[in-house]
Amino acid sequence: MNLVEERFLFGSVTLLVSRPSDPGDLVDTERFETDEYMPYWAELWPSGVTLARHVSMLDLRGQRVLELGCGLGLPSLVAAAAGADVTATDWAPEAVERLLETAEINGIVLTGAVLDWRDPAALERRSFDLVVASDVLYEERNAAPLLGVLDISLAPAGRAIVADPGRRHAEGFPALAADAGFTTASLPPDATSGPVTLLELRRALAS
Ligand SMILES: C[S@@+](CC[C@H](N)C(=O)[O-])C[C@H]1O[C@@H](n2cnc3c(N)ncnc32)[C@H](O)[C@@H]1O
Repeated sequence: MNLVEERFLFGSVTLLVSRPSDPGDLVDTERFETDEYMPYWAELWPSGVTLARHVSMLDLRGQRVLELGCGLGLPSLVAAAAGADVTATDWAPEAVERLLETAEINGIVLTGAVLDWRDPAALERRSFDLVVASDVLYEERNAAPLLGVLDISLAPAGRAIVADPGRRHAEGFPALAADAGFTTASLPPDATSGPVTLLELRRALAS
């Protein structure tokens, strides 16, 4: 697989990230036919960059952080470099393998795990202070399982941050989150956010 290499600076964290030069080469018709699988993990998406920048501004020392649908995993790498105990997950084993390699090259320690949102049993009742996900609402079928994973993985006082570049199906997400027992708040954009928005979710207090 041909790789391209890029250097990023997020706050005080410098990352060297290699990714497939042509994700189109990774399309597998058999996997698409069984589960509409596409190798989206291999692309550099603006939401991942924006979320990583936001994560670089948080004090995450000692915090348990989970990333869902991590792809190249920039937010996970930044959080782990800042001292968080990070578990980065994706349903694509290739994504997790690449992320572990990137972590090693950058001297960053994190845990990688294959996790399909629709089958979150692998989380084994672990709970996290912060759950992050970027550009995961691109298909209508994604919202409900993502909220299900949040429900089992978010610590009672924890929060989740979901970055989205304006996907059509993201519009209804706050209402679905409210139905699932979460409050939502939009985080203020900065000069570099472009169309990417950050939505914070917390468990609603029982009335
Ligand atoms: C558009 S990409 C975004 C990747 C990364 N978060 C970013 O912003 O650069 C969507 C990601 O979700 C992952 N994904 C899709 N369906 C999934 C599922 N059911 N369970 C877990 N991950 C999934 C894909 O493999 C891919 O990495």
